[in-house]
Amino acid sequence: MKVTLLTGASSGIGEAWAKSLAAEKHNLVLVARSENKLKTLCNQSSQQYGISVQYIVIDLTQPNADLLIFEETEKRKLIVDCLINNAGIGTAGDFTQIELADEQAMMQLNMITLVSLTHRYLKQMRERNSGTIINVASMAAFMPAPFMAAYAASKVFVKSFTEALSEENRPFNIRIMLLCPGATETRFFETAKINQEDKKALLGNANIQTPAMVVEEAMKGMKSNKTIIISGLTNKIGAKLGALIPNSMIMKFIANNARSTLQKIK
Ligand SMILES: NC(=O)c1ccc[n+]([C@@H]2O[C@H](COP(=O)([O-])OP(=O)(O)OC[C@H]3O[C@@H](n4cnc5c(N)ncnc54)[C@H](OP(=O)(O)O)[C@@H]3O)[C@@H](O)[C@H]2O)c1
Repeated sequence: MKVTLLTGASSGIGEAWAKSLAAEKHNLVLVARSENKLKTLCNQSSQQYGISVQYIVIDLTQPNADLLIFEETEKRKLIVDCLINNAGIGTAGDFTQIELADEQAMMQLNMITLVSLTHRYLKQMRERNSGTIINVASMAAFMPAPFMAAYAASKVFVKSFTEALSEENRPFNIRIMLLCPGATETRFFETAKINQEDKKALLGNANIQTPAMVVEEAMKGMKSNKTIIISGLTNKIGAKLGALIPNSMIMKFIANNARSTLQKIK
C-alpha cells in the first residue's frame, strides 16, 4: 500500500497537514512522540475518510531513528511514496546560555534525521521512478539569525540540501520540495523556551499565520511545479527584499532589536 509518511504530525503544522492529507484521501503514517495525540488523529481520520492512517511513536533525536522507522514501514509492507520531513524544533537566546545538549538534539532532529530518512526512502523512490519529498525549513533559511544562530543555520542546511537534491533528481520523476513557513501559531516558541513576553517582542506586528494557512499553501504547492514554497505574502516579499539587503545590515537590525527587547538575553 502506498503511503505518505509525515514526521511531527502530533501538533502544529504537522497536525494540520495530516488532516488536509487525510481529507484528500492519502493513506498516512504519522510520526512523533505523543502517542495519545497520534492515536486520536488516526482514529478520527480513518473513520471520517475511510483511509488507512497508522502511526509510529519515536523520538527522532535518537541517532538510529531513521533505521527504526524504515524497518517498521518495511515490516508493515508500506510503500512510502511521499515523505514529509516536518518535525523540527528551535533553540533561542545567547548561544553560550543555551544548553549544548539542546543544540545537539535540535541539530540531530532538524538535519541528521531529515537527511537519513531522505536517503533511505529516496533510494526506493529512485528504484520505482516516482515519489515526492517535502522538507520543512523556515524563513530563517534565508538569512543568519543572531540569537537563533544554530537553529537558523540548521534551516539554511535544509534549504541548500533540498534545492540541490531536487535538481539531482529531476530526471527521475521525483519531486523534492522545500516549505518555508514564517511565524506560525504553534508550540514552536514554547519548545524553544521563548516566554510569552519575548514571543510578543520578537514577533511584534509580524503577520503570524495559523498552521491551517501554512498547510493550505503547502497543499497547493504540492500540486504545482515549484521547488520552494514560501507561505504568506509578507514572507514572500520578505524573502525577495532580504535578498537585496546585505546580510550584515539585517543581522545588526535583528541583534540590536533582540538586545533591547528580549528579557531572555538581558
Ligand atoms: N511555528 C513557527 O513559527 C515555524 C516557523 C518556521 C518554521 N517552522 C518549522 O515547522 C516545523 C513544524 O513545527 P511547528 O511550528 O508545527 O511546531 P510544533 O507545534 O512544536 O510541532 C513540532 C512537531 O515535531 C514533533 N517533534 C518535536 N521533537 C520531536 C522528537 N524529538 N521526536 C519526534 N518528533 C518530535 C512534535 O511531536 P512530539 O512532541 O509529539 O514528539 C510535533 O509534532 C518545524 O520544522 C519548524 O522548524 C515553524
